[in-house]
Amino acid sequence: MIKRFLILSGIAFGILLVGSSLFASIFTPQEYAARRARMMKKIPDGVAIFLGAKSRVDYNEYYQNNDFMYFTGVEVPDAILIIDGIHEESILFYTLSERGARNHGISLDYVQKPSEVTGIDKIYPKDNFSGYLEGLAEGSCVFYTSFNPEELMRECTREKLRTLQRNMVNDEWDGRPTREQQFVKLVQDRFSQVEVRDCSQMIWDLRIIKSPAEIEVLRKAAKIAVKAHNAVIKTTRPGMYEYELAALYEYMVKKEGAQDLAYYMIICSGENHPYLHYYEHDRLLADGDFLVIDVGPDLGYYDIDITVSYPVNGKFSPRQKEVYEACNAVHEACMQVYRPGLTREQCRLEVQEILEKQGHDLSKDSFQRMRGSFGHYVGMAVHDVGGGPSELKPGMVFANEPLCVFPDENLGVRVEDTILITEDGCENLTAGIPRTVKEIEAHMKKRGIVQILKRAKIY
Ligand code: GLY
Ligand code: MN
Ligand code: MN
Repeated sequence: MIKRFLILSGIAFGILLVGSSLFASIFTPQEYAARRARMMKKIPDGVAIFLGAKSRVDYNEYYQNNDFMYFTGVEVPDAILIIDGIHEESILFYTLSERGARNHGISLDYVQKPSEVTGIDKIYPKDNFSGYLEGLAEGSCVFYTSFNPEELMRECTREKLRTLQRNMVNDEWDGRPTREQQFVKLVQDRFSQVEVRDCSQMIWDLRIIKSPAEIEVLRKAAKIAVKAHNAVIKTTRPGMYEYELAALYEYMVKKEGAQDLAYYMIICSGENHPYLHYYEHDRLLADGDFLVIDVGPDLGYYDIDITVSYPVNGKFSPRQKEVYEACNAVHEACMQVYRPGLTREQCRLEVQEILEKQGHDLSKDSFQRMRGSFGHYVGMAVHDVGGGPSELKPGMVFANEPLCVFPDENLGVRVEDTILITEDGCENLTAGIPRTVKEIEAHMKKRGIVQILKRAKIY
């Protein structure tokens, strides 16, 4: 959980830590208070209710849902938050014993001095929630809550909703509502006079624009990601299994304090290139294969999205080079034009102009088959806040991800970085990966971790 991230980055991020505790939230109480204050401004006629993630029923570690984390930084299971836009205050409900806290690795501050550590004055036992809600329902106020499914580790709310609708809500042999649908129904049944409204878009509008503190965490996550990608590229050789590369990546990012991967590692090679999210890790890599690796860490609830594409033997064939360079040219041209105010259509036209000026033949199949770039938002989820930008604004973070696939040739290329829009342009958060053919080939001539261990007869 967050703890690992804080221990490892405690010195660099000292100003972000709360008081003397290493085990508190990632951000200061003031940062969370500012987020809640922005939410209050959006709901002057009501209160927003946020259900925290429930205690786990398995042996996986606890992960708070992203909205709850965004507004509180509190990782206590089964908590509830009310953001009251009428009285401009926040109320937190949870019940936590010292033993429960120790058991879950939660700081005792959440038991002994909860207001100090959270910055929320009104913190009550969970059992008080129903009575509190009854009191609010007696006033004439709107209840806001997110109708979309909570985002847990490796989840993206829109995709989760689509899947739950298919395999649960609308499955004739299941039919259960989502947790959120059930909550809305319970509230409406109990308080028929209250109007319940969806506030997902309001939360997304806040989460889309990253604060300076969030950007610092993303930069740190990006550094870890780049280092791990470079280690994996360097160690790749024909005769290795994809799962060996997956294991190394996971080791590299966790060693640096990542709590998990942001999403299950995607590795496409051979006949799997058309399946853009293929993740079986089951191919034995052969001389001549081309590889796409799409993966990033989750560090302190912030995700990174990177894809690298390269030949397993470290030397591009003429065709691999042609398709790769087309993709990389689009990637670079996009980064030249990304700036506040840019729309998708403007981006397409300006990128085209740059490529033509550079002398590229855009009628070639590598350009004709290209898609992607100007992709989805990235943040607390890898496909963050329900979509992607139509017009760029400072503080937005999204994936630049042009891709091109030729299934008949067992060839797929994707060049992906996580990009921040700044006041006057963009910053490639994940810069530092060898991206040109020359850089990749030079990088792959070096010995990677596996080769070093083998040479030393350790492995
Ligand atoms: N990492 C998944 C994607 O790029 O969509
Ligand atoms: Mn990706
Ligand atoms: Mn992506």
